[in-house]
Amino acid sequence: MSGFVLWFTGLSGAGKTTIANNVEPELERRGFVVDHLDGDIVRTHLSKGLGFSKEDRDTNIARIGWVASRLARAGAVVIVSAISPYEELRRHARSLVEQHSPFVEIFVATPLEECARRDPKGLYAAAFAGEIEEFTGVSAPYEEPLEPELRLETTGRTPSESAVTVLDRLEELNLVPRAEFDA
Ligand code: ADX
Repeated sequence: MSGFVLWFTGLSGAGKTTIANNVEPELERRGFVVDHLDGDIVRTHLSKGLGFSKEDRDTNIARIGWVASRLARAGAVVIVSAISPYEELRRHARSLVEQHSPFVEIFVATPLEECARRDPKGLYAAAFAGEIEEFTGVSAPYEEPLEPELRLETTGRTPSESAVTVLDRLEELNLVPRAEFDA
C-alpha cells in the first residue's frame, strides 16, 4: 500500500487533533504505518522557537509539508493537524506531496463562535481580552480552503462520527480498502 497525506486544517479548537486521533488507530487497524504531525507537538520539536507571525507560520507549515512529503513517499500515511491558515502555504505543501503521493485536504469547518464556546485551552477568552497577539480568527486571518477533498461540519457530531466520515471519504478516493464489516 502506498502512502498519502491527510491534512486537517481549521481554527484552533475546531477538533482537528481529536478527529485525527480517532482516524489514526483505524488506519493502523487496516494495515497502514501512520505518523501524526500535530501543530502543537511539532512546535515543541521541529518548529521549536517559532511564533505566530505570518512568516513563522509559513515556516512551520513549509517544514511540516516537507516532512510529510518525505514520509508519504516512503510509504507512510501522514496525518497532519495544524491550523495552516494560509491558502498559499497549503497549496505549497500539496504540490510538494503530490510529486509522489496523494494529498487529501480536510477542512474542519467548525465556526469561530463554536470554537470560542468550546475554548478547550482557554485561548479564545485570552485572545478576546487582547492578551494574545495574532490569534487566528480573532486578530489574524484564517483563509478557508476553496476546494478541500472534504469539508467536515462538526457541530452536533462527535469526533468519532467525524472520523467515520473521513474514512468513508478515503474509501471513496480509493486510498483505503473498504472495512471488512462494510462488505
Ligand atoms: S499554524 O498557524 O502554524 O498552523 P499550529 O497548528 O502549528 O499553527 O499551532 C496552533 C496552536 O498553537 C493552537 O491550537 C494554540 O494551541 C496555539 N497558539 C498559541 N498562540 C496562537 C495564536 N496566536 N494563534 C493561533 N494559535 C495559537
